[in-house]
Amino acid sequence: MSGQMNITILGIESSCDDTSAAVIENGYLLSNRIANQQVHKEYGGVVPELASRAHQQNIVPVVDAAIKEAGKTRASINAIAYTRGPGLMGALLVGSSFAKGLALALDVPLIDVNHLHAHILSVFIARNENDRHFPGFPFLCLLVSGGHTQLVVMKNHLEMEIIGQTIDDAAGEAFDKCAKVMGMPYPGGPLIDQYAAQGNPRAYHFARARIKGLDFSFSGLKTSFLYFLRDKSHLDKNFITENRNDLCASIQDAIIDSLMQKLTRAARDTGIRDIAIAGGVSANSGLRETARRLGSRKNWRIFIPEIQFATDNAAMIAITGYYKFLGGQFSSQQITPVARFNHL
Ligand code: KG4
Ligand code: ZN
Repeated sequence: MSGQMNITILGIESSCDDTSAAVIENGYLLSNRIANQQVHKEYGGVVPELASRAHQQNIVPVVDAAIKEAGKTRASINAIAYTRGPGLMGALLVGSSFAKGLALALDVPLIDVNHLHAHILSVFIARNENDRHFPGFPFLCLLVSGGHTQLVVMKNHLEMEIIGQTIDDAAGEAFDKCAKVMGMPYPGGPLIDQYAAQGNPRAYHFARARIKGLDFSFSGLKTSFLYFLRDKSHLDKNFITENRNDLCASIQDAIIDSLMQKLTRAARDTGIRDIAIAGGVSANSGLRETARRLGSRKNWRIFIPEIQFATDNAAMIAITGYYKFLGGQFSSQQITPVARFNHL
């Protein structure tokens, strides 16, 4: 189209253990590359120093691959969006320093992106016009990741309000910690999902936390699960292996149930019917199915990203960068990463 400038955004994500780069042009995704770090599996969690080193090794090939797959060259990039935080400081420094250097070299603006904001905007990732199934504003988002569990009202692409959050563990943390006490490797969330599919969610009942209002709590669930397994394993040392599927289905059910209770309450309190679920835990098949069933009963419209955009990825950083570009929200070269945000 003559006279119309393309807006081509390179997104870079390096907040935790995935090095990712993506290209979005005029709001549509052209490529999304992710190098997942396997080095952490044997340690039972992400080892920050190993993560920083792996990002350093991966970042150039991942960015090059994303640009190539998009059919673009570095010269066609109009802005670089990168994750400023929250996340691991060393990991964030690799992505932000790289983004700053490349932005200087290409003489294009920099856009700093809040990782949580990006998870929410992952529901706006589309490959073309026919792929647009977007919520209207205001919409409600249940953001469930490894580090965060929040209920957020999105007023537009760039303005939001947190109306509820966890007072202790995040939902992803609850999955991972429960998996760990069953002897599974990190991250255990996806494994619980797999085993749960073959188990009975009513086999065991674990008490749900009773927290006022729209806040969540998951640390009690983890503790009662731990004590339950300890008692049972004391009587039968094979208890966990023999009942793995039912244990996974039951603990997953307890987590999903707590999430759905608060989501229902938030929808009722706000009167909002467009509901997004985002963040790594939104990859959970039980959660996806339960939310869709609940949504059709409540007459909500449910928006959940494709699984590859639910867990950490740069496509969500690039799409957030695109909307910040449209809103004129750029960042300076002096801005520094932030490991923890107290706000979105
Ligand atoms: O959003 P994310 O990739 O990284 C953070 O920003 O934290 O979320 C990672 C979390 C981990 O706790 C992981 O176990 C969980 O998402 N997760 C899952 C599934 N896939 C990822 N939890 C349950 N079921 C899944 N299928
Ligand atoms: Zn994340």
